[in-house]
Amino acid sequence: MQLEIDSKRLQQELEKLASYSDVPAPAVTRVVYSATDLAARRYVKHLCREEGFDIREDAAGNAFARWTGSDATLPAVGTGSHIDAIPNAGMYDGTVGVLAGLEAMRALQRAKFKPRRSLELLVFTAEEPTRFGIGCMGSRLLAGVLDPAAGARLHDAQNHSLDEVRGLAGFTEPLSTVALPADYYSAFVELHIEQGPVLERKQIDIGIVTNIAAPASLTITIEGEGGHAGAVLMPQRHDAFCAAAELALEVETAARSTEAIDTVATIGRCEVFPGAVNSIPSRVRVSLDVRDTNQVRRDSVLAVIRKACDAISHTRGVHIQAEVLNSDAPATCDPKLVEALAAACDAHGLSHERMVSRAYHDSLFMARIAPVAMLFIPCRGGVSHRPDEYSTPEAIANGALVLAETMAALSQ
Ligand code: HGY
Ligand code: MN
Ligand code: MN
Repeated sequence: MQLEIDSKRLQQELEKLASYSDVPAPAVTRVVYSATDLAARRYVKHLCREEGFDIREDAAGNAFARWTGSDATLPAVGTGSHIDAIPNAGMYDGTVGVLAGLEAMRALQRAKFKPRRSLELLVFTAEEPTRFGIGCMGSRLLAGVLDPAAGARLHDAQNHSLDEVRGLAGFTEPLSTVALPADYYSAFVELHIEQGPVLERKQIDIGIVTNIAAPASLTITIEGEGGHAGAVLMPQRHDAFCAAAELALEVETAARSTEAIDTVATIGRCEVFPGAVNSIPSRVRVSLDVRDTNQVRRDSVLAVIRKACDAISHTRGVHIQAEVLNSDAPATCDPKLVEALAAACDAHGLSHERMVSRAYHDSLFMARIAPVAMLFIPCRGGVSHRPDEYSTPEAIANGALVLAETMAALSQ
């Protein structure tokens, strides 16, 4: 089968999708259910409709574009990723998996391929935790990992509930209708930029993911004692920000102290109250993101951090409360799909290497209801979640080509 990727069109579509942003280029901000996100969704659905795919959206806003196969009763072969973007992000995270996934399906159509199993492109809702604090919200609901009632209790920083926000976006069906049956997909393969430096450094064309690290996310609130920055003397202070600063260094030490390089921990958000120049912080709320490919090791780091919280609250006379938002198991990619990706790379003379994914992805949850695999393409300097995130048109075309070849093999 002669597969050709229309790289020029794919690049134009990536650029157009990047234009749906709440900040000026080259940065991209596209928060779930925002007007910008909804406009971007309309654009992607339009591209899928142009190919004659059947489009549907579920109650969370996950969008499905299906090319029905000759045996429509069989579980389908799925691909896809997300188009929401964290604030001040780049234009390739997630979008490559959606638009190169679409181009892979178009290339198969152009090659007159006839799928036996249906092929389906999935655009997941809210892969990023930006608005509702939990990553992969759409795929958690699809995989039945997030209970619909718990989902309905999620709310954003303006205290708008998920139900309210998604309802305003036109998604009004109950969340209980989102979960997919276990045999919905026979395989799910996600293409994504590596978001790391390995492939570029080793000059490898394709990364084939064997394991996906799992995140635990917490919100930690530190209550101290406020007061006048001039009047309260140092020995009398219970400064919530100083306690948070000490905790941040303890988090870093805990993550560095495991024997594995796969353990990472990040405090990415810090809210200081009252946030006045001349007022001692009485309350600080931080986000904590801890990940590892090994769940036991990750949870041991969490235990060390909890102990540090106890020690700091004792020595500083503050109250520290940790709320777990999610604590997920890592995922192992299906060996047969890993082999299929390797065969597809070989068929096109592309170098490949097996690797772990340190970022999480929707495939982490799709692995609960289907065999999954992921393929990575190099990104410049390993940079991601930044406006200078970049992948070359050739790398993106390689990803689409391998994805097309793999989906064709899996759909027979
Ligand atoms: O945070 C992550 O790993 C993903 O990029 N949302
Ligand atoms: Mn991301
Ligand atoms: Mn992503």
